[in-house]
Amino acid sequence: MPHTITLIPGDGIGPEVTRAVVHIVEATGLDVRWEGFTAGASALETHGTTLPGDLLESIQRNKVALKGPIATPIGEGFTSVNVGLRKALDLYANLRPVWNLPSVPSRFTGVDLVIVRENTEDLYAGLEHVVVPGVVESLKIITEAASTRIARFAFEYARRHGRKQVTAIHKANIMKLSDGLFIDCARRMSKQYTEVQYDERIVDAACMHLVMRPEQFDVMLLPNLYGDIVSDLCAGLVGGLGVVPAANLGERGVGVFEAVHGTAPDIAGRDRANPTALLLSAVLMLRHLREDDRADRIMRALTFVLQQGQTLTPDLGGKASTTAFSQAIVEALG
Ligand code: NAI
Repeated sequence: MPHTITLIPGDGIGPEVTRAVVHIVEATGLDVRWEGFTAGASALETHGTTLPGDLLESIQRNKVALKGPIATPIGEGFTSVNVGLRKALDLYANLRPVWNLPSVPSRFTGVDLVIVRENTEDLYAGLEHVVVPGVVESLKIITEAASTRIARFAFEYARRHGRKQVTAIHKANIMKLSDGLFIDCARRMSKQYTEVQYDERIVDAACMHLVMRPEQFDVMLLPNLYGDIVSDLCAGLVGGLGVVPAANLGERGVGVFEAVHGTAPDIAGRDRANPTALLLSAVLMLRHLREDDRADRIMRALTFVLQQGQTLTPDLGGKASTTAFSQAIVEALG
């Protein structure tokens, strides 16, 4: 069946890594039509807004988007495009699988965990105000509905992917009501998934355990703020933001698959960016589209090129261009 996918190349290195990934995905023979859009700083120049309405309509229609990094213009009044997309499309689940890739230098081996982050509320609800000059208040919103929804997502993910354990991360010893409600919802949900072990960790202790023995974690379930911080920490365990994928998922199969690194202005336009993060996100996207064979082929080709070590981009210690790296993967697809 042909797929129509919304494509947001983004800014900086975004168009370069997106071009590379589109090339690789198309080389698998996927029957695909891309609907390209600008967002962020580049859309502001052409559309007068960072998040054009026709882009949102395209994602709502196609249900699936692949997104490069986006520069949010600096200045008052510009909210992050990433946050805007999540809100507009109710992309409530942020999924970040984290595992070691061959030839990618990292402190640990044997890391294989999945971050499930609640994406819509918590301190990121954006409810801040000045109480009196010199005093600001920022509201942490935790609801039973959103906590139950993300807990269900985490346990469903664990069940569908044969994962053994879900660990809820919290600070309920201090934030007894808000984080208390979050773990209450996780506990209640765990009763419906008896084949998946459930445990809880306080966020600070979890961070220490992650940087000592990350292999003990499987699926991690976190509210928004801890999820944002801990997911980058976890990327650092396996080589950084250039080698981990991400997906933002909503109801009825809507998904925005993205690179989590930034626009890398220092290397933009020089054909030396590493497209691995966006490629891994495209692999998640293909699995979401039930194109597992093509996803598997890309993973085998990427693994081969990384293991061979002859065509690596500079961030991985090689001298190859983005174009050469992606061409090597295409050739390894067989
Ligand atoms: P950055 O991730 O763009 O760069 C940090 C360092 O990592 C740089 O040295 C860069 O060259 C390197 N790097 C990043 N991705 C790479 C890749 N694929 N291959 C090789 N090297 C790579 O972070 P920075 O400098 O803090 O942010 C720059 C811009 O990106 C800002 O405008 C920021 O708002 C935006 N940004 C966008 C994000 C998104 O759309 N998801 C996420 C983070 C930042």
